[in-house]
Amino acid sequence: MALQGVIDRLKKTTLEEIGVSFSLADILRDMRIEGSKVYLKLFSPSDKYHEFLKNKAEETLKSIGAEEVEIEFTNEPPKSSAPQTPPPPQQQQNPFENKRRIPKVKKVIAVASGKGGVGKSTVAVNIAAALKKKGYDVGYLDADMYGPSGPTMLGAKDKQVLAREDGKLIPPVAHGIKMMSIGLLLPSEDTPVIWRGPVLFKALSQFLFDIEWSDEELDFLIIDLPPGTGDVQITLGQTAEIDGAVIVTTPQDVALIDVKKGIQMFNEVMIPVIGIVENMSYFVCPDSQKKYEIFGKSKTEEIAKEYGIDLLGKIPIEPKIAEFSDLGIPPVLAKEESESSKAFLDIAEKIIRKLSV
Ligand SMILES: Nc1ncnc2c1ncn2[C@@H]1O[C@H](COP(=O)(O)OP(=O)(O)OP(=O)(O)O)[C@@H](O)[C@H]1O
Ligand SMILES: [Mg+2]
Repeated sequence: MALQGVIDRLKKTTLEEIGVSFSLADILRDMRIEGSKVYLKLFSPSDKYHEFLKNKAEETLKSIGAEEVEIEFTNEPPKSSAPQTPPPPQQQQNPFENKRRIPKVKKVIAVASGKGGVGKSTVAVNIAAALKKKGYDVGYLDADMYGPSGPTMLGAKDKQVLAREDGKLIPPVAHGIKMMSIGLLLPSEDTPVIWRGPVLFKALSQFLFDIEWSDEELDFLIIDLPPGTGDVQITLGQTAEIDGAVIVTTPQDVALIDVKKGIQMFNEVMIPVIGIVENMSYFVCPDSQKKYEIFGKSKTEEIAKEYGIDLLGKIPIEPKIAEFSDLGIPPVLAKEESESSKAFLDIAEKIIRKLSV
């Protein structure tokens, strides 16, 4: 058995069944062939998939003549995650010089927050929906690889992702918005996703660069990030050209501390911050129309001023927001007029102006 032949076969053995879009060759860490015996070392961080991967590899290798197959697993990331074609040697590598544009998209906006649960996905989905309502061609990329909520919020849990022969993914459309989420590729909603560096990197770069967003060009792509300043944010910042970031916060002090961290992170990866959106700013009592600042007096304006960033808008707490989101309808597209819808449309307008579209 020839080494190259085996590698070519492993490249063709894709692992869609466990919700990933790469092949056995991508997780290959070591290989030896002794006559008709093949030894493989595979990278797999969780033993949950070992049985599956073992069967898959055995089946593949036996189909090309291996009589004996020995498989070992490792959860160690590679010492050097050398790409297949190594970049030419450089005196001093600038981590940002390989930044690429996301194909077929005019403007890319990342929606981020330092703290979890502040309403990032709600804001991302509704900015996308507001832009759509204004007549733009819009995409939504749920880059929350750990807890994707896009499929629920856009009522798209049953939508199918198509893969073209050249490997490009065709996003489904929900409420007129083209969308992609790791949630659409997982076998079940309850599957926890455990990513290790190189695998996360690969999946994310496929999400960023291998989606066929449009026949022509999308006007806007909204990227919904996981909370914090972790691997996903850094990878995104180092590999993709992002036209601007929107930081979401609530008025609480704990959330505001994280706003500063978020601004610093985007500065470090050279992504301009378009502005801050304050969510859950206040609640208007339906009986008395009295306004209550549930999380206390907001200091978001002060922080925005301190960093020279605009406060794009304040979204009130409205039970309907959670209700519609759970039903899979972006509240902005629901028929009822509301304070929050007005705020989202206004925020979208500011983004359009800021990015001079
Ligand atoms: N202004 C609001 N009024 C009422 N409910 C809201 C509001 N904003 C968000 N929610 C609800 O709060 C919950 C959390 O919101 P969301 O999922 O958008 O937060 P997130 O920051 O994306 O969370 P994570 O960090 O887990 O990704 C959801 O149930 C959402 O419907
Ligand atoms: Mg979210």
